[in-house]
Parts: sequence; C-alpha cells; structure tokens
Amino acid sequence: MTQMNDQPAQSHSLIVTIDGPAGSGKSTVARELAGRLGLDSLDTGAMYRCLTLVVIEERLDPADPAAVVRAVERHRIDFDWTRTPPEITLDGRAVDERLRQPDVNELVSRVASIPELRDLMVRAQRRIAERHPRLVTEGRDQGSVVFPDAEVRFYLDADSKVRARRRALELQASGQQVDERAILESIQSRDRLDRERSDSPLQVPDGAIRVDTGALTASQVVDELESAVRGYLVRAASGGPA
Ligand code: DC
Repeated sequence: MTQMNDQPAQSHSLIVTIDGPAGSGKSTVARELAGRLGLDSLDTGAMYRCLTLVVIEERLDPADPAAVVRAVERHRIDFDWTRTPPEITLDGRAVDERLRQPDVNELVSRVASIPELRDLMVRAQRRIAERHPRLVTEGRDQGSVVFPDAEVRFYLDADSKVRARRRALELQASGQQVDERAILESIQSRDRLDRERSDSPLQVPDGAIRVDTGALTASQVVDELESAVRGYLVRAASGGPA
C-alpha cells in the first residue's frame, strides 16, 4: 500500500470502523480514508456476498443453516492483500464482479441473517485484524459487535432516496440500464432486513461519530472522517482523553 509522508506513527494498532446502511457510501469512503491514512481496508459486506455466492452455486436453501454452514466450511474465502483495495477470492477465484450481480443482491441479507454464519465471519474478521492491526473496516456490525473497542467508530447514513439515486448513477456510469424505483425498493427492503434481524442488527455503535452523507460528496465525507481520526491520534499522543 502506498504511504504518504505525513502518515501517523506506524507502531500502534489503529482500528477504524465504518457502519451504515446500503448505499450510504461506506465502501468508497473506507477505501479512500484507508489510502489517506496509510491503513489497510476491509469490506466485510464482500464476505457475506461471497457466502451468498456459495449458497447460489451450490443451490442451497438459506432456511437450512446447518447445510449452509457445512458447505461454507468446504470453501476458502480470502483477500489478496497485495492489491489496493484488497481483492476478495473464493477458492482462489477472483469474484468481486460476480458478487455485485442482482441474484447476490437479492439474497445476501437473508444469508447475512444466519447467526451461525455471522459467528464464523466475526471470528474471521477478528483474525484479519490481528494480521492487519491498522485497518479501516466497514460493514453493519463492525463498531457494535466485531470491534466495540475500535479506536474510532463512524456511522454513515443518508435518506434512502439519496442512496438509491447514488446507486443508479453508479450503475449508469458503468453502462447498465437502471430502474431507480426498483433500486429504491431493493435498498428499503435490505434496510428492513438488516435492521430487524435478531442477530447483530444494523445499529449505531456506542460512541460512534454519525455523519449524514446526503448533502456531501464522497471526498467531503472522507475529509470529515480523516480529520476525526487525526484528532483522535493527536489526543492519544498527548495522553489526553481519546
Ligand atoms: O455492504 P454490502 O451491501 O456489500 O453488504 C451486503 C449485505 O451483507 C447487506 O445485506 C448487509 C450484510 N452485512 C452484514 O450483515 N454485516 C456486515 N458486517 C456487512 C454486511
């Protein structure tokens, strides 16, 4: 990963979590923030998407968690950390593009609500943080469940219409036909599933800094987050309350 001259001291661990609903801008912001601060970045949504791809390819029923867990344990989900951002692989196969297809979008919230799988992912994410202790990690439960002691925790949000608009523009930019109304419905339905599931529902982590990204560009959001992290580092270095 490229390092800039004004990077914070490299010796201590620094976990920064970013949680929020679909389309709140987490992925873009996490990658850019990690680049500016010289940290690694982890997209935990991609891990749940990878599990969903296993469910699809093996024609499993997500209502049968035991069968899903058995199948998942036969596969290997990894990140290629030589790439920026790290590229997710399933049994060595680069699958990132496949993970963004509509069939995965439709099923992923159901798969992510299986407690046994969440348990496996939480443990995998903590193992990753042991090997990459200077990390920006984004998802739905990073600051609330996986890393409740993270040095800095953020929660990004935006109105669902704004989030749908953003997704539509992204898809249009990559040359795809879009139905913005369908995108809005899909975002609202995923929000409901993510917020209402019993295990680790999407919530604002204790002590998280909340940012409404609705009226901001991605780069303005990153400015805000970067300044909060640098503020934390200055306070921590001077021994004051973080
Ligand atoms: O951020 P995303 O759209 O790639 O996430 C895909 C799905 O995975 C979404 O329905 C929420 C779920 N998810 C989760 O439950 N916990 C996480 N830490 C990350 C994602």
